[in-house]
Amino acid sequence: MIKLVTTDPTRIKSNLLVIAACEDINVYEHPRLVATIQQSRRLNEFSGNRGDEIILYQPAGYMTERLMIVGLGESQKLSPETFRTAIGRAVGRAMQHKLSTAAITVPGPVVSGLGFEPVLESMVEGACLANHTFARYKRDKKTAAVKQIAFVVPEKTAAKHRRVVRKAEAICSGTLMARDWVNTPANDKTPQQFAAAVVRSSEKANLKTKLLRKRELSRQKFGAILAVAAGSESDPAVLVLEHFPARAKRTIALVGKGVTFDSGGLNLKTNVRINQMKADMAGAAAVAAAMLCLSRLKPDLRVVGVIPLVENMISGTATRPGDIIRTYSGKTVEIGNTDAEGRLILGDAIAYAVKKYRPEILIDMATLTGACVIALGEELAGLFTPDDELAETILQSAVKTHERCWRMPLIEDYRDLLKSDVADINNMPRHRFGAAITAALYLSEFTAGTRWAHIDIAGPAFHKKSSAYCGPGATGFGVRLLCEVILRMAKTL
Ligand code: BES
Ligand code: MN
Ligand code: ZN
Repeated sequence: MIKLVTTDPTRIKSNLLVIAACEDINVYEHPRLVATIQQSRRLNEFSGNRGDEIILYQPAGYMTERLMIVGLGESQKLSPETFRTAIGRAVGRAMQHKLSTAAITVPGPVVSGLGFEPVLESMVEGACLANHTFARYKRDKKTAAVKQIAFVVPEKTAAKHRRVVRKAEAICSGTLMARDWVNTPANDKTPQQFAAAVVRSSEKANLKTKLLRKRELSRQKFGAILAVAAGSESDPAVLVLEHFPARAKRTIALVGKGVTFDSGGLNLKTNVRINQMKADMAGAAAVAAAMLCLSRLKPDLRVVGVIPLVENMISGTATRPGDIIRTYSGKTVEIGNTDAEGRLILGDAIAYAVKKYRPEILIDMATLTGACVIALGEELAGLFTPDDELAETILQSAVKTHERCWRMPLIEDYRDLLKSDVADINNMPRHRFGAAITAALYLSEFTAGTRWAHIDIAGPAFHKKSSAYCGPGATGFGVRLLCEVILRMAKTL
């Protein structure tokens, strides 16, 4: 729970009071805060550098149990991300000590280069995103979420900024939900189980939901989704979530890859590569969570989330390399490799979304290729689109949320690499060079001319190591990005 208070920070009774300091300027006007920071600067351990922190117990002149000062670095280099990480780390400390209450002092208009609102917003984001662990399966819980976090703001601004806090909280709770879903092991996350969990939340949120089960998928000839699911004991599904306000005239579709476990199929993955493949539904989780957020943010747009769900496994009924299938779109595909399953299910889902909902814009998000991780590393998602305007909207949203994307080229020359001698297209390119690009080109075969962007999140979706405001494992990457993109489109479409 997050609230805004206007109490004098020195009079706040809390397990922890957090204040921030730059190395070169004062960010507060409060004389006691300024004095405390100056005093601690005299100690060699603290100078206000980024990442510095110091804890004072029962500090004189305060009513808090502990006071933590976090370093923000040079004032010229401050960005919203500086505040997210600094506050994220502070909340992480509070969680390690299982503190129940924390109060965080927001700098006044001194850091006006950024504006008060973005500073407040990013501090709230850092706190919300950090205040979470995935401990459902642990008896001994080493950390605990802080029960109540108060943000201390100057009196005059409190009313005005309540909305900023509510919005940030709503969106970040979506990120946390996505993390939980992705961290859940595949044995508790079959397509049916995952769909049921999302449907339960969606119905509470008043989203329209539709679940296509296996029989319906067969009847409607989702040949690619059925082919990927053929080796699994768990049936596939397609989940459709819809935000449809009465006045909305325009439609955006979001499509998320939902492979609840990717063994590779008969082109079985090796031991290293198979390890984190429960996270191969991170695109689905991001789309589902973004839809839940949008039900609260209520943009004046129709948004449809289409989520294909399968488990890619091995058995006597599994699809074989060399098999030829007929996809939902009618195109036939030679299965050159059963491990290139993401594009297969996305192709069907994209073709379905386009045919059924005729969206003006379609964005898909997927842990699609290892090649994208090789190209861009773990911090950047690959953005693929032939549409410059759409690229610009997504790239700006990526900067705003710090869910960073890098635009990759989609050159037509490489389309030939997907040619098949026996079917309309091969899901496996002829060679492995540029594999993130050929994967995107494969998807483009199913968009039927719709304005489209593909975001490959194979790198940023799952990090073994924790960071300033994210525990180890799933990051929930994409939820905040998709929400920002949709909100921007609602303003400009
Ligand atoms: N789910 C994987 C991609 C992936 C790799 C995600 C590493 C996260 C981390 C995808 O289904 C896959 O196996 N892609 C293949 C495609 C290839 C067979 C054309 C790949 O990237 O090797
Ligand atoms: Mn695969
Ligand atoms: Zn996969």
